[in-house]
Amino acid sequence: MDRKVAIFGLPFLLASILYETTLAETECFRVDWTKENSRRWFPIGTIFYDGDSLEFVFNQTNYNVVVVDKLAFETCKAPEGAFEYNSGDDTVPLKKGENYFICTKRGCCENNMKMMIDAAAGQRPTKMEETEQVRSGQDNQVKSWVKLIGICYMVLFF
Ligand SMILES: *[C@@H]1O[C@H](CO)[C@@H](O)[C@H](O)[C@H]1NC(C)=O
Repeated sequence: MDRKVAIFGLPFLLASILYETTLAETECFRVDWTKENSRRWFPIGTIFYDGDSLEFVFNQTNYNVVVVDKLAFETCKAPEGAFEYNSGDDTVPLKKGENYFICTKRGCCENNMKMMIDAAAGQRPTKMEETEQVRSGQDNQVKSWVKLIGICYMVLFF
């Protein structure tokens, strides 16, 4: 029951938790939601992940953003009660899999104001992992060891 040693172990746990949260990166993509921009919302090859979000920026006189399903996406007919964003600067979270958005103001969906995003499962690789692929395995090991040391201290001495 040595509290001093237990308190000594605490920073290890906190460090590993902190380390883990910095690994969970998400990205917010700005969408210039205009008719002129349709069909090329994002650069080719953009990869979206579960937990990323889109910031739709638009003129609310002409446009809105409605969250729909595949059928509504194809037919441009939003079901009753579909959620509508209409502030003109709306941040919308992406969920895993296919995300469908259409504009339902007069004629805009038919003018290709619609978007489908297929968000990948899991987390976006960190910049560190992207640039130092080889190191990422070691980082996970370090993370595990730091956590293990922290837990050992807590269990043994608290
Ligand atoms: C939004 O669109 C309307 C109609 O086209 C236009 O009159 C208005 O100036 C626009 N607002 C902004 C902030 O661009």
